[in-house]
Amino acid sequence: MINNIQLNNFRSYKDLQVELSKNINVFIGENGQGKTNLLEAIYFISNIRSHRTRSDKDLIHVEDDFARIIVNTEKNNKKEKIMCVIHAEGKYFSINNNVVAKTSDILGRINTILFYPNETKIFSDTPSSRRTFFDVEIGKTSKNYTRIFQEFNNLLKDRNRLLKEEKIDKILLDVITKKMIESQLFIINERKFITEFINNKIKNNLKKLSSDEFEIDMTYISSVKDLNFDEMLSKYNSNIDRDSFARTTTEGIHRDDYEFKTNGVEISKYLSQGQTRLVLLAIKFVLIDYIILKTKENPILLLDDVLSELDLNHQKKLIKSIPNYVQTIITTTEYNLVFKNADIRKYQIKESKILIKEDFDVKQ
Ligand SMILES: Nc1ncnc2c1ncn2[C@@H]1O[C@H](COP(=O)(O)OP(=O)(O)O)[C@@H](O)[C@H]1O
Ligand SMILES: [Mg+2]
Repeated sequence: MINNIQLNNFRSYKDLQVELSKNINVFIGENGQGKTNLLEAIYFISNIRSHRTRSDKDLIHVEDDFARIIVNTEKNNKKEKIMCVIHAEGKYFSINNNVVAKTSDILGRINTILFYPNETKIFSDTPSSRRTFFDVEIGKTSKNYTRIFQEFNNLLKDRNRLLKEEKIDKILLDVITKKMIESQLFIINERKFITEFINNKIKNNLKKLSSDEFEIDMTYISSVKDLNFDEMLSKYNSNIDRDSFARTTTEGIHRDDYEFKTNGVEISKYLSQGQTRLVLLAIKFVLIDYIILKTKENPILLLDDVLSELDLNHQKKLIKSIPNYVQTIITTTEYNLVFKNADIRKYQIKESKILIKEDFDVKQ
């Protein structure tokens, strides 16, 4: 869990210190007050990237030349100070004031699951964005996956480069193809596992989150997922003419997709925005269990603007669904009755300044 966060020159924050409760924390503030910026900082220090910009420079306060995030964490009574400094030339991380040599080593130190409303677009977006969505989740729990996935991508680039040549070196092509098959078998297994895991658990989560009766089927779609090494090799061999004509590798896990259906219809064509949001939330709740299973550690749940588009009944169900062993940070524009609970710490956020509130006047 995170005990406290310090931000300097991060986005709209010049200088912020905030202590978090180990249970649910709710940040209440109007639009543009810094709610998402705060979650983004936590997301950034755990995932070494932002969920809303590719350019780290955007994260530095406009008038400054560096940004700093410090979080003090606690796991099994072990405390750690994790720091990240971002400047125009790059970023570095340190743990207990020792600089981390390889940035990627910071991954897994703090595991977060982030929900933000715009992410529901993955259901109607390209296969590639759905692949990325799940690759990121698998990668959080397995450094091997990240490494092997990277190797596969390099091999794919090599193979495609080879396919573009006038005279293809068949021996080299064979070597690369075999290595590619090895990495794919590993990747396919992990993708199958996460699909099965979500399918087994999503129903129960949806029931807790929603009173409507709808079921979700997630399918992992891949033309190579059921093949063993030899079968894949013969597929690649029989594809050679097509691949060299297309000058690219036409089949493989780089073409995989995931499908989400309710009653046999794709959910993006059937469910309302509110229902789609609940499906995404149900998936996020399954991912909590997935991370716990694979890392034996509780992730931190970050729910950005999660209550909009949900009626009071669904808002209540959502708050109830949060397991008490998962530290949670929720942002919202309005204080409402859902939060009238002693286990929830409430903060008011205004112009990127934060105040802890004992209780608000509730408009009934
Ligand atoms: N690099 C930056 N420097 C200064 N202010 C920034 C920077 N990036 C974003 N902001 C400001 O942060 C505010 C948005 O904060 P955000 O956390 O997204 O709001 P919300 O509370 O609606 O989630 C905007 O007013 C924007 O101008
Ligand atoms: Mg926001």
